[in-house]
Amino acid sequence: MTASGTFSWGFEFAEHFDIEALGAIVTKGVTPRPRAGNPQPRTAETPLGMLNSIGLQNVGIERVIEEFAPRWAAWRVPVIVNLAPDRVEDFGTMARMLDGVPGIAALELNISCPNVDTGGMEIGQDPEAAAAATRAAVRNTDLPVIVKLTPNVTDPVPVAKACEEAGAAAICAINTVLGVAIDIERRRPVIPRGRAGLSGPAIKPIALRFVWDVAQAVRIPVIGCGGIRTGEDAVEFLMAGASAVQVGTATFANPRAPLDVLEGLKRWMESHGVQDVREIIGAALPKGEA
Ligand SMILES: Cc1cc2nc3c(=O)[nH]c(=O)nc-3n(C[C@H](O)[C@H](O)[C@H](O)COP(=O)(O)O)c2cc1C
Repeated sequence: MTASGTFSWGFEFAEHFDIEALGAIVTKGVTPRPRAGNPQPRTAETPLGMLNSIGLQNVGIERVIEEFAPRWAAWRVPVIVNLAPDRVEDFGTMARMLDGVPGIAALELNISCPNVDTGGMEIGQDPEAAAAATRAAVRNTDLPVIVKLTPNVTDPVPVAKACEEAGAAAICAINTVLGVAIDIERRRPVIPRGRAGLSGPAIKPIALRFVWDVAQAVRIPVIGCGGIRTGEDAVEFLMAGASAVQVGTATFANPRAPLDVLEGLKRWMESHGVQDVREIIGAALPKGEA
């Protein structure tokens, strides 16, 4: 899958490679009303990664339903809409608006955005609020509801379990890790808000640790995300217990990265005599706990 916020709405990429070969496209986070996002600069390069503070710039749910969904309906690849309202109850309202809309295959609840003042990550840091957001969505749609966790907690297990009990179909781990970069000539943070979200290979071991912990604690599938660039990276996440993976930051340097990861995974499986990807899911976990 593509990771939210790194593949826009999918249309530009469809001109460059066969996006229908992918498992799914995940959209940019959508909010109840259009959002202009945060002041520039919104990104900064870091060793083996990047910081971003986009601030959920997007066109709002109405345009997604009216303009984008009819175009997605013509695609054979499923499109998962990432929802990022700032109030728990809006997850229910938005889920109801998207229920039954042709072109939308599932919802991913972004309870983990670090770049907004309200909602976002705060919901994902509190098991009760996370469960309430999940319940609100699940009760208002027949679409599968994936919940995307924040790594900005000590232990993701209570949140993951609360979301599973509230009816989540899958857990996605992880969103970006909070970080800061300083412009030493200006004596100011590079990103005006100071704190921003770190992504890319720098966070891969952290993402693997979250997948590892969550996969042993829940029965629903876990989608791994964070720093994946190659087929071998995907194999690591699968062995840590993920059933699928998302590719984000790698797409900025190489727009074909999600497809390259898929092809690399297939090559690795062929060269290691693995017929079915399920043979390696959880293979590295302590026995009996996959
Ligand atoms: C520029 C940018 C924008 C992002 N926007 C969103 C978003 O709207 N919703 C969301 O859930 N995650 C968003 N993310 C997080 C990614 O989907 C992903 O969880 C994270 O970047 C880690 O994966 P990666 O290292 O492969 O990029 C964004 C990441 C980046 C770099």
